[in-house]
Amino acid sequence: MDTSLTYAEQLDREDPLASMRDRFIIPVHNGEAQTYLLGNSLGLQPKATKARIQQILDTWSQYGVEGFFMGDDPWMKYHDHLIGPLSNIVGALPHEVTVMNQLTVNLHLMLVSFYQPSGSKRKILCEQKAFPSDQYMLETFVKHMGMDPDEVILEVSPRDGEDTIRDEDVLLAIEKHQDELALVFWGGLNYYSGQVFDMEAIAAKARSLGIPVGIDLAHAAGNIRLHLHQWGADFACWCSYKYLNSGPGAVGGVFIHERHHHDIKLNRLAGWWGYDKETRFLMEKGFKPVQSAEGWQLSTPSMLLYACHLAALEEVQLAGWGKILGKQEQMKNYLWTLLEDLQQTAPSGHLRILTPRDWRGCQVSIFLAKDGRKIYDALMEQGIIIDWREPNVIRLAPVPLYNTFADIWRFYNAFKSLL
Ligand SMILES: Cc1ncc(COP(=O)(O)O)c(C=O)c1O
Repeated sequence: MDTSLTYAEQLDREDPLASMRDRFIIPVHNGEAQTYLLGNSLGLQPKATKARIQQILDTWSQYGVEGFFMGDDPWMKYHDHLIGPLSNIVGALPHEVTVMNQLTVNLHLMLVSFYQPSGSKRKILCEQKAFPSDQYMLETFVKHMGMDPDEVILEVSPRDGEDTIRDEDVLLAIEKHQDELALVFWGGLNYYSGQVFDMEAIAAKARSLGIPVGIDLAHAAGNIRLHLHQWGADFACWCSYKYLNSGPGAVGGVFIHERHHHDIKLNRLAGWWGYDKETRFLMEKGFKPVQSAEGWQLSTPSMLLYACHLAALEEVQLAGWGKILGKQEQMKNYLWTLLEDLQQTAPSGHLRILTPRDWRGCQVSIFLAKDGRKIYDALMEQGIIIDWREPNVIRLAPVPLYNTFADIWRFYNAFKSLL
């Protein structure tokens, strides 16, 4: 394998998506573009975002509240622009996707509908060390229902001496606890290790035993190929500030399988934005939901957040989702080869890659047995922007839309000299 900068630059010259980088604003460090490898945390700003926001401000200033119905792009229809590109990215039917609120809020809302404990079936199966917000969400929701989280929440852990949870252990746990489970709730791509779970198998196993299944896709949406409709999960939620580049605190996304859209017995917390569109403004008593995922909306959406989201989704469309995934695979293979070289450079046992070798997606997590924090700080000082997770893990995620192969090489080269 060629570990030279010349080779990385050659890969960049051959990259069919190379021109996309110029459509994003790359932050600057000491007068040079940062080597920004944190798309797993906050994706960068598309240059087109400003104009999309300005368009909303212009409509507002020109029409006031009539902006919902007037102007080039009335706000009442804005949600429709988001659904096409998003449903393509998450592998859903357009009416199975809605854009609303933020991730943790949406997860709570989905539990209202899909966590229905009854009789001996009261437990929720989830991964050990799920992202903290998911843990707090489950803990407080269960308490709110008058139950004890320690009794209700069952976690699957990695085997002794292993860093990641085996898919087979998840399936075995579902089978073993089938008579007690009211919900399987899983993170599709683990935020700490970068592990991608076999969501298809987990959803199929849970459904075959009549257990509802929900997925947190915070680190998966816009990162890996998903087939939510086909996999048959009951619900999934994601944020759009990571790989979907829609800005800090961006609006969240929700998938609800179409088999639930007409089920009026399903619990839900409602608001007027989920009310049947034809008759919403009659303002009548009695909730009558839109017969699609939009029926779970509650509040008037933020057009400013929608505008940020639309600008970013248009970049995905311009690049082509298939091409993005293709470049991601190539970046992953390139990064992996350089990481293997780093592993050979480091003293034995010093550097361990937590992310499984057959990983999909942009993120890779590296465990450093010693001096991890020093290495991290030194990389950041050089403008190589990655992140640090206690106690000793570095995470990075080169993304196809704005990272280059030379970015990956710069990380490798700086890391190697620090080792
Ligand atoms: C896996 C996962 N779940 C939940 C959250 C919380 O998302 P939010 O703060 O948008 O509610 C995050 C945030 O990074 C996350 O990574």
